[in-house]
This record gives sequence, structure tokens and C-alpha cells, in this order.
Amino acid sequence: MAGLRPIAYSTTQKALHWIIALMVMILLPVGFYMKDRGLATNFDALTDRLYTAHKTFGALVLLLVILRIVVRVRRGTPAPEPTLNRLQIIAAEAVHGLIYVLLLMVPVLGWFGVSAYGARGILGGFSLPEVLGKDTLLAEIILKYHGVAAIGLLLLIGAHIGAAVLHHFILKDGVVKRMLR
Ligand code: HEM
Repeated sequence: MAGLRPIAYSTTQKALHWIIALMVMILLPVGFYMKDRGLATNFDALTDRLYTAHKTFGALVLLLVILRIVVRVRRGTPAPEPTLNRLQIIAAEAVHGLIYVLLLMVPVLGWFGVSAYGARGILGGFSLPEVLGKDTLLAEIILKYHGVAAIGLLLLIGAHIGAAVLHHFILKDGVVKRMLR
């Protein structure tokens, strides 16, 4: 099978794309908001609930992204649209690759950060596995990079959506339809 590419994204690939996209687009604003709210209210009950939800859905994104990468490696992706030139293909692959890297890095940093903070509790009374011993200073540094990486992810998503809008409404080619039904 090596070298053979599917003619289209599978239903699983499309579903994972849109579920992860939706979750990340909620996690980003909630992440910024809960942090500000925590500082403003000295961690009121709602802030606490937002943190718990953020950690839970963030960890779920990590699992879904790993699943998505496994599916991608096993099944492959359709060849680029024939209308794209070399530069467009390289730019798309670079942005997609970086998005994958950050989709792994952001939740991993969050998980390592809360682990070092000693705040691994998530929804349902569960706890994320402990990966670092308690070290508040280290936790603060890791969570700072979690925020920086999340801003990087936000910028890349902006570029990704910008390209999708360009393809769909201006170039009017079939690029965006590949990820739709
Ligand atoms: C793709 C998944 C995730 C995204 C997009 C995301 C996004 C964000 C964003 C934008 C912030 C605000 C950063 C700031 O203002 O400095 C934030 C904060 C935070 N996130 Fe995440 N996050 C994700 C996953 C996780 C996970 C899995 C955990 C932990 C298990 C986590 C724990 C936290 C914590 C504790 C904060 C507050 C940091 C602080 O108070 O300094 N996040 N997140």
C-alpha cells in the first residue's frame, strides 16, 4: 500500500477535524477569560469550574489529536488539489505541520503545568496522571509557555481560516470542500 493516497479524507478524519476545531475555539477564549477572572475574583466558584472544564476538555483534545495523527499516518491524506502551485502546497504543509505540533504542545504543557502545580483534578472527580512532582515555580513557568504556545496556535488558526476563506470565496477552488461532507 505504500505510496497510495486515498482520494478523499475519511469520515473519521473529517469528524476529528471539526470536533477538535470546535473544542480548541472554545478552549482558547475560556483559557484567557478564566485566567483574568481568577486574578480579578481571587478564584471564585465559577473560575474554579471553568478551570476544571478547561483541563478536562483540553486533555480530551490531546487524546483526539493523538488519534487524528494515528489515523493520518495509517490512512494518509488525499494528494493536494491540482490547482495549487508549489509555493501554496509548501505553505499549506508548513502551517498544517505547525498546527499539529502546537495541538500537541499546548495541552501537554497545560497537563505538565497543572501536574507541577498539584491541581490535576478534572470533571467527574477524576485526576490527570501525575507527570511532575509539586513545584509551584516550575508550574508557573510551564503555564506561561502554555499561554504563549496557545497564542501561537491562535495565530496559526487565523492563517488557516484566512486561507480557507481565500480558497472558498475568492479562488473558488475545491480545497475547502475536501474537509466538508
Ligand atoms: C488544545 C488545548 C488547550 C488550549 C487551546 C488551551 C488554551 C489556553 C489559553 C489560551 C489559556 C490562557 C493563557 C494565558 O492567558 O496566559 C490557558 C490557560 C490555562 N490552561 Fe489551557 N489550553 C488547552 C489545554 C489545557 C490542558 C490540557 C490543561 C491542563 C490539563 C490546561 C490548563 C490551563 C491552565 C491551568 C491555565 C491557566 C494558566 C494560568 O493561570 O497561568 N490547558 N489555556
